[in-house]
Amino acid sequence: MIGAPMIKVANIMTNCRICGNKIDKFMTFGRMPLANGFLTEAQFKDEYFFELAPAFCESCHTFQIVDQPAPEAMFHGEYAFFSQTSRSMAVHFEAFAKDTMARRLGPQDPFVVELGSNDGIMLRHFAKAGIRHLGIEPSANVAEAARAQGVNTRCAFFGAETAREIMAEHGQADIIQAANVMCHIPDLKSVAEGVALLLKPDGLLIFEDPYLGDVIRKTSYDQIYDEHVYVFSAMSVARIFGAHGLELVAVEPQKTHGGSMRYVVGRKGRHAVEASVAAALADEKALGLDRPETYDQFRRDCEASRDGLMAALNDLAAQGKRVVGYGATSKSTTVTQYCGITPRHVEFISDTTPTKQGKCSPGAHIPVKPYDAFASNYPDVALLFAWNHAEEIFAKEDGFRAAGGRWLVYVPEVKFIP
Ligand code: TYD
Repeated sequence: MIGAPMIKVANIMTNCRICGNKIDKFMTFGRMPLANGFLTEAQFKDEYFFELAPAFCESCHTFQIVDQPAPEAMFHGEYAFFSQTSRSMAVHFEAFAKDTMARRLGPQDPFVVELGSNDGIMLRHFAKAGIRHLGIEPSANVAEAARAQGVNTRCAFFGAETAREIMAEHGQADIIQAANVMCHIPDLKSVAEGVALLLKPDGLLIFEDPYLGDVIRKTSYDQIYDEHVYVFSAMSVARIFGAHGLELVAVEPQKTHGGSMRYVVGRKGRHAVEASVAAALADEKALGLDRPETYDQFRRDCEASRDGLMAALNDLAAQGKRVVGYGATSKSTTVTQYCGITPRHVEFISDTTPTKQGKCSPGAHIPVKPYDAFASNYPDVALLFAWNHAEEIFAKEDGFRAAGGRWLVYVPEVKFIP
């Protein structure tokens, strides 16, 4: 944790956050620091750790982590995550905004609210189009970055109370959007309540998050970290919002974050439910997302992935090869800590985000260096922590391959490229 006071209180859940049913972890990733807790050497001694362990609720089928640091420990004045760090994400959010404008937005002075609007990466397109909008963003530094771009932003956590305040000031919303935000919010009941208040009768909530189906299929266990309280499925989303007079009316798979799902939710009975919903629910049943055995197999798959990756890294270390990490992602914290990757295996991690550079990675304490450190002295192997951007990265790193460099990836399986 950086900058904010040390908060040692964690929320250890033994009951499902959604339905209250008893839940128990089906595996553990062990002692884990905050995924975005990049830190200096002086801060090592105060580093925050908690147990990262996922559970699956057999009653409402919501996948969640059991223990979670207090939100104030994660999203604060020096939160290191800015959305505008990748070109493909900027393109994705522009497409998301334009799709909403073209297909979902009414013509009568519409009002769009975005939850967790970060640095305005999506909302700026609504702002540019002259559409009434408001971003809700709890991290002060990130909210300020959005305002600097002309995106109206309120620094707050969203819930029923904030919804009432927004309504009093601006009226109800035609669209509420969120991207990679809903899965961060432990008290989803309050969010669903807020959405049910804030939406116009025919309004829509449109949000997307990493998709449980992809995590299970690809063993992408690194989507599980402190900020991701939930990894959703269509099954769980239908249940979560269904309890608040809302229903799932469409789902649209996305390529982002290594496999995401966009969920479209409206008031019950106000919209035709698209065929995509029944198709996703059937697919999830076939995949076994409602059965404990699936998660038992997932645990075994995680262990095999970890063992394979460490065998490769230990081999490289024994051969004296230089290995550099590519992308100091939040996800990489789960990987380094769960697998036991140290600076002995990975010399440094290259990352383009200024706030991460010059610090060390959480837990493993691998130095984070600017991109130049990678480009000016290519290693033998680049461990692709930012695997969700593989296409973009491979395309721009021709030079590394041409110089004989190899990529080491671990999703969906551990392998070298070429
Ligand atoms: P992100 O995709 O947001 O993953 P997570 O949600 O797990 O944090 O993070 C990508 C990180 O990788 C971000 O810190 C920027 C960095 N990055 C690079 O350093 N170079 C690149 O070419 C790309 C695409 C990303």
